[in-house]
Amino acid sequence: MEVASVLRVLLVGPPGAGKGTQAALLASAAAVPHLSTGEMFRQAVAHGTPTGERVRALLDQGALVSDDVTVGVVREQLSSADCERGFVLDGFPRTIPQALALDEMLLDLGLVLDAAVALTVPREVLVARLTGRRVCPQCGGVYQLAGGSPGVEAACPRCGTVLVTRDDDRPEVQARRLEVYWRETAPLLEYYARDGRLVAVDGDQPVEKVASSLKAAIDGRMRR
Ligand code: AP5
Repeated sequence: MEVASVLRVLLVGPPGAGKGTQAALLASAAAVPHLSTGEMFRQAVAHGTPTGERVRALLDQGALVSDDVTVGVVREQLSSADCERGFVLDGFPRTIPQALALDEMLLDLGLVLDAAVALTVPREVLVARLTGRRVCPQCGGVYQLAGGSPGVEAACPRCGTVLVTRDDDRPEVQARRLEVYWRETAPLLEYYARDGRLVAVDGDQPVEKVASSLKAAIDGRMRR
């Protein structure tokens, strides 16, 4: 993938849409940080930090962390030197107040968002992907079990650790997360469409095809 000198995008989509997968590929190709609020919160929980203690139960239930806490975490990252050449935001913003706060942050920093990318995937595919997802507790690798059959534990191809199911991929929590997405996050599509920042990408294709569609969709919007 051709590397832009500056890239500032965010990925929005329901749980299992492939935000994390695509954000990692895009950020690595453009050599900018991949900022996943979900991953930041999971790390905080794993390390028992004060933020982790505050958000643990919310993540377990598939509920959203408060806008205040989330915006605070992102503000810290965006104002760091690491993000000078851009960023790929994954899972933020997730509510209209978060989107407003992001626009304010960018204005304060004198930055412009290149695009808000919406990944669209049918519900039955999302459920199959969440059910089949396994993650490596050691190196953070994310994988998909063929056929999505639960209970078949495999080893991480990168480090050999036994893969696990993410706590919030339990069926009852999946359903709650999907419901929260449609209620709290889907209105962002209209928010970003209104001023032409939204680009939609078909996320129901093989990973590499989604990546090339995404690149084609944002090419030309990147500042060089
Ligand atoms: P977060 O980690 O952001 O979870 P999510 O939005 O529910 O998204 P997922 O990680 O489930 O899915 P994804 O779209 O990244 O898909 P992935 O690439 O992994 O947030 C977790 C929690 O943190 C939230 O519930 C909330 O509590 C809190 N939180 C986070 N941000 C917040 C915010 N801004 N405000 C408040 N609270 C916040 O792919 C899924 C699976 O499919 C994987 O197995 C992958 O290998 C596979 N896959 C990916 N693409 C494809 C493809 N094209 N074809 C086949 N398989 C694929």
